[in-house]
Amino acid sequence: MHTRALAATVVFQALSEGRSLADTLPGAIERLGDASERALLQELSYGTLRWYPQLDGVAQLLLRKPFKRKDGDVFALLLVGLYQLMHLRVAPHAAVSLSVSAVDDLGKSWAKGLVNAVLRGYQRDPALLARACGKSSAALAHPDWLLALFKRDWPDHWQALAQANNARPPMTLRVNQQQVERDAYAAQLEQQALRARASDFALQALTLDTPVDVVNLPEFARGWVSVQDAAAQLAAALLDVQPGERVLDACAAPGGKSAHILERQPALGELVAVDRDAQRMRRVSENLQRLGIQATCMVADVAAAADWWDGRKFDRILLDAPCSATGVIRRHPDIKVLRRASDVAGLIEQQARLLNALWPLLQDGGTLVYATCSVLRGENELQVRDFLATHADAQEIPIVAACGHVCTFGCQILPGEADMDGFYYAILRKQQR
Ligand SMILES: C[S@@+](CC[C@H](N)C(=O)[O-])C[C@H]1O[C@@H](n2cnc3c(N)ncnc32)[C@H](O)[C@@H]1O
Repeated sequence: MHTRALAATVVFQALSEGRSLADTLPGAIERLGDASERALLQELSYGTLRWYPQLDGVAQLLLRKPFKRKDGDVFALLLVGLYQLMHLRVAPHAAVSLSVSAVDDLGKSWAKGLVNAVLRGYQRDPALLARACGKSSAALAHPDWLLALFKRDWPDHWQALAQANNARPPMTLRVNQQQVERDAYAAQLEQQALRARASDFALQALTLDTPVDVVNLPEFARGWVSVQDAAAQLAAALLDVQPGERVLDACAAPGGKSAHILERQPALGELVAVDRDAQRMRRVSENLQRLGIQATCMVADVAAAADWWDGRKFDRILLDAPCSATGVIRRHPDIKVLRRASDVAGLIEQQARLLNALWPLLQDGGTLVYATCSVLRGENELQVRDFLATHADAQEIPIVAACGHVCTFGCQILPGEADMDGFYYAILRKQQR
């Protein structure tokens, strides 16, 4: 199948079936043999979903009537075509003619004239973009409901926040300090003509100037580095595990933070990594194996302690909770079309359930780090506020942060700040009785 038709299928599956890029793109990529076509498919799929609200705004100005549901793949192909015209340096005539011929692959040859007319309509009148951008959803390429939440929660930052979500994310590495110092690894990268800058905040983080395939990273297979955003690397530092301690990573998969905890403190007593998703949990085992480190891995609903817990309390707990992922939209632009406003309340409830269920598993004097990759206050500082209000033995330890925004409870990094993803952290200590 034609690369553009495959991209249209991937976009259609996100728009109509609610399927994520992580779910559909790998299979689509496998259908292409050529590396540059594979890269193009990835670019078209990610880019079209990243700019979807804007592309949709322009498409609506060009279409006389909406598409029938069964022809959503043709609409997706139109968006893929508009994305090329508006955001890529593809020669416009090629973008149009290749999009038109991709219609055959979708089995919708009747739509050739329509696709041709709409794309040429945009070429003839680029002012259409400015007209579409009269609406902030198109101008900032986010759904209205999400912009409304950003505006409510971050009245001084919401536009910058949305713009940062539209940027391409950097590729950041976590240097395994058991194997090599960060500066020494940066020097090795330099020898391979790969330039990287060290994070001022995450002490094992190096952000590459240009993303590369991991196979090109020195000693990747031997576990010298992993790919992990700098904001995510702050979790292990905040957890600050000491030798001999027993630690729970409560929502562990795919295991980035578990691995970092073990790299930072190889003398810890035991790391128990739990996640309810068996498939994602297999990736924890693979990651730990590559890094040559060990943890006790379990597939379970961590809130159902009777199913997995042996009754021995933990000195530290990391709860990297399921969330709206509104801080990592630059990495997962499909969130813009997959998430619904109504999801947020359910996530807040789920996070509260996890916090309440894990608290009894923590030793007196122990600490729990609560983390999300959300920027919404309801999932973050308000969640922690409500927890503190109902747990007299919980005390918040303020985070003294050189970066991010210190909130009434916890600390928020907004996407793009210091090159990082959006992340929230709070540290809760269980008082000694
Ligand atoms: C933000 S991700 C965790 C990322 C991980 N900490 C890392 O750094 O690689 C949230 C995870 O929570 C898991 N999860 C959600 N509800 C859960 C539950 N009740 N019990 C265990 N895991 C759960 C999901 O399967 C998902 O893998």
